[in-house]
Amino acid sequence: MKRKALVLAGVGAAALAVPSVMTFAAEDFGKYQVGDTRSGYTFAKVETRAIQDDDFENPGMLWVEHGEEVWETVDGKAGKSCKSCHADASDTMKNVGSTYPVFAKDIGKLENVENRINRCRTDNMKAKPWKYDSRDMLGVVSYVKRQSFGQPMNVKIDGGAASWFKKGEEFYNQRRGQLDMACKHCHVDNAGNMIRANTLSQGQGNGFPTYRLKWQKPGSLHRRFRGCNKQVRAKPYKTGTDEYLALELYVMWRGQGLPVETPAVRN
Ligand code: HEC
Ligand code: HEC
Repeated sequence: MKRKALVLAGVGAAALAVPSVMTFAAEDFGKYQVGDTRSGYTFAKVETRAIQDDDFENPGMLWVEHGEEVWETVDGKAGKSCKSCHADASDTMKNVGSTYPVFAKDIGKLENVENRINRCRTDNMKAKPWKYDSRDMLGVVSYVKRQSFGQPMNVKIDGGAASWFKKGEEFYNQRRGQLDMACKHCHVDNAGNMIRANTLSQGQGNGFPTYRLKWQKPGSLHRRFRGCNKQVRAKPYKTGTDEYLALELYVMWRGQGLPVETPAVRN
């Protein structure tokens, strides 16, 4: 009931600009809200949140488990597993989920977890890179990011990352596609309002890879970007490209302070 009231209040406020929104008590979202910054969790249905909250029911946890198996599996000509070099992920990977993407000095560009892992596969393991949304990649990224579960998002946007951040911000605010809409038109100006059957969230990235009930599988943040680009009938970029890396940094920065939720559950 409370949740419905909030949604209606949002629509009313946008359509009529009446202060009726003030008459509804704000729901307490605990750690999922930091100031005005709200995780997609707070816009999700109560049933969806319950699935996310229960590790045994959360189907994304099966991918985390798969990732742990892959972590320990030798692959490639160098005869190594991730574990051979990185040992206990709960120790060596514990800050990765909350701090990526980072500017990697040795390659002189921004790098997210997926691209870093593929660099380890090709350079360190002499193995083939994984496809972006393949089962093994989603599994290992979920496993790696899970090691930061609950940690507040804390990405760096200075130094080498500064120019990437600026590009990401431009991308975010730029109108595109046949509908001529920018990310911000939906996720800043209309967060809380309904679009078709969905409540628009702030489009935060702290829960990825996110398990989508609609797909019955998890998806990467870049796959989500592609979906949102397609919604406005703009041509999507490929996953892992510089455009989406820059956008990823900007989106993660918008969510500074929100806890890493991987694997989140969404519609
Ligand atoms: C032969 C050794 C080796 C193997 C095997 C290896 N890596 Fe790495 N990895 C490195 C080195 C070296 C670095 C860069 C130094 C660092 O940040 O620790 C690195 C960095 C990383 C980072 C960034 C860590 C951070 O704190 O920024 C991640 C994530 C990562 N590797 C994941 C993986 C995964 C997943 C696998 C298996 C698919 C893997 N690596 C296999 C050597 C390896
Ligand atoms: C026409 C409206 C629209 C536009 C424009 C749009 N999105 Fe979305 N986006 C949605 C809808 C609908 C969803 C699913 C419900 C929700 O979380 O808002 C979504 C979800 C997301 C999510 C997942 C949030 C979560 O908690 O899992 C992210 C991240 C996201 N969008 C980023 C973006 C970015 C970045 C852009 C610009 C490239 C963008 N969106 C443009 C409609 C839009």
